[in-house]
Amino acid sequence: MKNRKSLYRLLACVSLVFILYALVKNYWIDPGAAGFLSRKTGLKRELNLPVWLNVMYVHVGFACLAMASGLINFSNRIFEKSRRFHRFNGYVYLVSVLLVVLTSGYMAPYATGGKISSMGFNALNLIWLFVTTTAFIQIKRKRIDRHRNWMIRSYAFCFTNLLIHLITSLVHHGFGMVYATSYTIGLYGSIALLIIIPEIIIRTKRKEWVIE
Ligand code: HEM
Repeated sequence: MKNRKSLYRLLACVSLVFILYALVKNYWIDPGAAGFLSRKTGLKRELNLPVWLNVMYVHVGFACLAMASGLINFSNRIFEKSRRFHRFNGYVYLVSVLLVVLTSGYMAPYATGGKISSMGFNALNLIWLFVTTTAFIQIKRKRIDRHRNWMIRSYAFCFTNLLIHLITSLVHHGFGMVYATSYTIGLYGSIALLIIIPEIIIRTKRKEWVIE
């Protein structure tokens, strides 16, 4: 119980700081994404900047909304207070995920690192859609435990951008690799971690329940 509370607090801190960072950076400090776009080399298709930027704004907005609504729905206190709110907020999360996936689908062909990165993002889109839909189907069938586990798996993908940039920086600055290659490694590394970490959390949680 204590562990679960500490994990939730840690999750809340990381999520809130990241949401604030993403909003300030992308809407205020660098709204033209100049830093990020300057690292795109050898694009196979021409990027329509105004369209790409508008799609990116929608992407960031709904990604932050998914992160916030998901976080709120993991709170036991809020769940116990109002199941109606949990349900409404769940739909906010679902729609946000759909819009992040849709905008991601537009941006994927122009991904930093070329075709391999594009393929990675498309795979990520399909996995996230599958995982989130499964979480939804489970609750429609009233399987609460399974719904919670699939939501843990789904929510992990809200950390995609954070993890990609962390790994990319580590590989680029730490090992001196070219940025585009570091980005591709960051992307595939993130996909692997975002699948593995929730499984560890779910298994640990199960063990705790057996002890309790
Ligand atoms: C809270 C979660 C997320 C946030 C805050 C976020 C934010 C961003 C931002 C700011 C960019 C512009 C470039 C950069 O600075 O990285 C971006 C690009 C992108 N994001 Fe997300 N994103 C999130 C989750 C996702 C997820 C889950 C996917 C895929 C399912 C995704 C797919 C993409 C794609 C394809 C691009 C274009 C990459 C490129 O041009 O190289 N994002 N995202």
